[in-house]
Parts: sequence; structure tokens; C-alpha cells
Amino acid sequence: MSNDKTKPRLRFFENAAGQQHIPEKDKYLYAVTPPTHRLAIIGTGTIGQEHMRVARLLGRAAVHGIFDSEQRSIDVALANFAALETGLPEGQRHPVPIVYPSLDSVCNDPAIDALMICTPNYTHFDVLQVAMASGKPIFLEKPMATTLSDAAATVALARSYASFVQIGLQYRYKAQYVESLHEALTRKSVGEIRMISMSEYRPPFLDKVGQWNKFNDQSGGTLVEKCCHYFDLINLFAGARPARVYASAGQSGVFDALTRDGRKSDIDDNAFVVIDYDNGCRANFTLNMCSPDFTEELCVVGTKGRLIASERFDMHHAQEAKTSLSLELGEHGASREVALGYASVIEKSGHHGATYFEHAAFLDRLEGLGGNAATPEQGLWSMLVASAAQESSKTGDAVDLTGFIAANGLAEALGVSTVSD
Ligand SMILES: NC(=O)c1ccc[n+]([C@@H]2O[C@H](COP(=O)([O-])OP(=O)(O)OC[C@H]3O[C@@H](n4cnc5c(N)ncnc54)[C@H](O)[C@@H]3O)[C@@H](O)[C@H]2O)c1
Repeated sequence: MSNDKTKPRLRFFENAAGQQHIPEKDKYLYAVTPPTHRLAIIGTGTIGQEHMRVARLLGRAAVHGIFDSEQRSIDVALANFAALETGLPEGQRHPVPIVYPSLDSVCNDPAIDALMICTPNYTHFDVLQVAMASGKPIFLEKPMATTLSDAAATVALARSYASFVQIGLQYRYKAQYVESLHEALTRKSVGEIRMISMSEYRPPFLDKVGQWNKFNDQSGGTLVEKCCHYFDLINLFAGARPARVYASAGQSGVFDALTRDGRKSDIDDNAFVVIDYDNGCRANFTLNMCSPDFTEELCVVGTKGRLIASERFDMHHAQEAKTSLSLELGEHGASREVALGYASVIEKSGHHGATYFEHAAFLDRLEGLGGNAATPEQGLWSMLVASAAQESSKTGDAVDLTGFIAANGLAEALGVSTVSD
């Protein structure tokens, strides 16, 4: 996609060595429209670098500047970003991003149009408040905070913000979920949705700077940190308010040997979660972190059929993810099974292409074109289910969400009454 949305562009040929003889003046399909927005990336770790790569590929916004509290993260991000320029013709090279010396300086440089906060979860609320003083559009990585009270405060701040805050719940842009949401909610192919089943089998959480994701207080807990993606999706499919949550979760020893500052890692690495929605829909979620490769599966059953979306990423064979959607409609319509995928340059840019479309949604919003990106309210609903599940696994009891919302003072932020209706 270029800035000029009406003009075609052939990325595979524009960068091909055998096409570099085409002079600038003759480029039409290969012509690159200069970016019209300037982004700053705050936190240039794993996902910050992915956002830099994706912004570069999408081409609608330049990465004008970066900020990170660790020099090593800055050096690596700049080196990896520079490597993307290798072999590109002059007209397609991206200027080296400015390295800002402080959070204040990056947020308040008038040259920057929008801020992307990609720092660890426990820093989100503090960084966000500095960023909001700038009045600029803000992208805030998921989960929006580590505690429900900070998440609710974020919703309140975002409501009175003159610009907007988008939450990085990007799984809704994975090919299999885009298609599943369309089939289930727009085409209503499976009828009225009754059951949703979702699972992630994966290797242990990856290493991070300071290993913040191995500690409940810094990450918000496993179900908040990573699984908010899945609870956001389940909430979208259910189309109703979660009413009751039960979970069983624990540690199977994956991080037993991991310590920081004398503290032992305390996060769960496996869980079963059951959610009852107030429209009668039931959902479950399974997480397992002891698997060699990544597999996600979604099964949605309605009054007219069953939908199965699956993604398998076999990293040991260095293959791209295999993604598919299967619809079983019996006598209600045409059943089918299709392989899905985005263009390979897009898939390779990160999270199997979802990050690219998440960026496009952010820029659409910035340009006043609307969009379906995650709002702070949706971010809070995903955290609510995750936090209730963590509470349930601690006490062994199911959590009634009306009481949980009241006890945590979340009714206003969620826009609900705490009296059961
Ligand atoms: N949307 C997704 O699918 C997705 C994927 C991965 C991570 N994330 C989220 O992105 C965030 C970062 O995760 P990551 O995997 O990149 O972690 P990371 O540890 O790889 O990188 C975090 C970076 O932030 C820097 N940092 C820490 N505190 C900072 C501060 N106060 N100011 C500036 N820089 C600071 C660190 O030095 C590091 O370079 C987390 O919130 C995580 O949950 C989202």
C-alpha cells in the first residue's frame, strides 16, 4: 500500500536487481511515494524493532526517531534497520532515525506526528502519561497496563484526550482471525455463536531485556501479558459481556532456574480458562508453554455450523506459518477449507503479517479514515477476563464478574452498571 491508495505498486519488482536500470523518471509501478507521517518508537526491543521494520515496509510513515533506556537496544535497532536498506536504490532509502536522549525530548519534538510505546508492560502507564502531554496520536502496546486500576485510569485519560490512543491487540489482524471474524460476525455463517474454544501451544516466553515477562508484577501475569490477545478475540466473537470466569493455571518448571535480583520467576506457564458470557455463549482458552513449536487454534460453534481457524509455525524447520480456515456447515451451506496467507514480504515483516495491518489501521485513524483497531475500552475488557482468570486460579473459585468489576472500581471505565442486568 502506498500513500496514494489509488496507485498500484509492485514491491517484488521494484527491488529486483534486474530492474534497477529503470530510471527514476520512468518509474510508475516501481515509484515510491514519500512517507507523509513521522513516527517515534519508544522502546526498541523485539516489538519496537518489528514496528520499525513494518513502518518501513508500509511506507506511509517514516521512523523519524527512537528512544530506549538501553544503549544496546538502540545500537541493535539501528544496525538492523540499516540492514533493511542494503541494496536498495537511492530513492528508496530511509534516513537514519534520530536517537533522542530522553522520553520528554522524543515525545515533544514537533517534527514527530505520532508516538509508539513499545516498552515493557510495567512502564506503560508512566510512559503513557508523559506521551499524552504531547497531545499526539499514541499507539500503546498490549497489555495496556499491569494492573486493572492503571488500565481503568488509562481508559479515563484516553476518553478526555484530544487525540487518540490505540492498543496493540494485533491478533485481530492475523489472516485466520480476519477471515473468521468476517465469516462468524458479518456473514454469520455458523449462525448464533454458542461455544468458542481457543488454544495456544508454544515454546516458553522468549528472553527479554531484564526478563520482565517472567515476573507477575512486571508483566501483569501470564494471562494478562500474552493471553490478552486471545481474550480480546474471544470477546469479539462472543459479542457479549463476560459474566463468570474460572481458571486453573500453574507452573511446570520451565522457569524454575530463572532468577533476577535474588527473585525467582513466578509466572504461570500453563492454564485452562473457562468463560461464561451473558448471552449464553461459553468459551474456553488453553495455554501451554512447553511445546517445541507455535500452534494456535480457534473453534467457533454456532447454531448452523463450526468454524476452525488454525496457525502452525514450525520454527525448527524455518518455515513460514501455515494458516487455514475450515467451515463445516452441514446442510446449512457450502462447507470449505482454505489455506490463508498474506503476501510473503508482509508475512515476514512480523507476527505473520498482523503487525503490518495494525500499522495500516493506526495510520488510517491518524488520517481520519476510521478503522477497527483496538480501543482502550477493549484493552480493558481483555485485561478484565485475564485478571479474573488469574484471580480464579489463585483462589480455586469461579469469579463472578459483576462483583469483580465492582470490587475493582471498573464500572465507569467499562461503561457498565455493576447491578446484574
Ligand atoms: N503486540 C504484540 O504481539 C507484542 C509482541 C511482543 C511484545 N509486545 C509488547 O511490547 C512491549 C515490549 O516487549 P518486547 O518484547 O519488545 O520487550 P523487550 O524486552 O525485547 O524490549 C523492551 C525495550 O524497552 C526498553 N525499555 C525499558 N524500559 C524503558 C523505558 N522506561 N523507556 C524506554 N525504553 C525502555 C528496553 O531497554 C528494551 O529495549 C511489551 O508491552 C510487550 O507485551 C507486544
